[in-house]
Amino acid sequence: MSAHIMVFDSGIGGTTVLEHIKQSIPNAQYSYFMDNAFLPYGAQSQQTIINRLCSLIHFIKANTLDVDLIVIACNTASTSALSAVRQVTDIPIVGVVPAIKPAAELTRSNHIGLLATPATVASSYTKTLIAEHARNVIVNLYSSVELVTLAEQHFFTDYLDTNKLHQVLDGLNIDKAIDVLVLGCTHFPILVEPISQYFEGNVKLLDSGVAIANRVNYLLNQLNLCVNKRTDIKKPLQYYATADVFSNKLAVKLVTLTDPSQYVEH
Ligand code: DGL
Repeated sequence: MSAHIMVFDSGIGGTTVLEHIKQSIPNAQYSYFMDNAFLPYGAQSQQTIINRLCSLIHFIKANTLDVDLIVIACNTASTSALSAVRQVTDIPIVGVVPAIKPAAELTRSNHIGLLATPATVASSYTKTLIAEHARNVIVNLYSSVELVTLAEQHFFTDYLDTNKLHQVLDGLNIDKAIDVLVLGCTHFPILVEPISQYFEGNVKLLDSGVAIANRVNYLLNQLNLCVNKRTDIKKPLQYYATADVFSNKLAVKLVTLTDPSQYVEH
């Protein structure tokens, strides 16, 4: 049997990571879970995010989904809840955190920016990441919830309100000395072209997609999880959501996550 990889995000942003993983490991079995009832995670408390991820683990178990590896393709959830959720499951988990380290290595001006959600920017995980990997570099932090909404809209409708996007980016007042901007939210690569156009190509935009795909590949090999058996019959990618998705772009199964306080142990 092929390895079953579940990719998780609050919304559709994690598909930007999923694409990289699928490209690198085409023969695995995939499911995609979006907790869009609680979107945006960037505006949620750390405890709420921890509860939702613990509920996800419960959901996987209760529905015997046989997941071999979970990718939390959400910087907000990873920086808020990675260690807590690892304590409630044996399933290996790969988190997605802002690409601060490669950005610090890439910058020529010694000045980088992190564009992420308010929760990611405020998290102690992000502060540690910067302290450990960007000590000799100036790092400016910028947060936006509106960009998440614009990315969701753009994904599902193909429409982008460019004026609104420019308004949001203008409002962030991004320092002109920055030559590398970390896209520290998996929703933002959906907008990578218009964001790059906004900066007229003068700022390198960096996300963690390729690094995550490499990490997943490495872990599957370490765990001896087979992904290349020719005899495998691959099921179509299953999408789950916790709230209605107003688009017929994806076939989505609507599900509910039970709050940890409501679990009935058998
Ligand atoms: N995609 C999520 C991330 O990478 C954030 C979106 C949200 O705020 O829910 O941080």
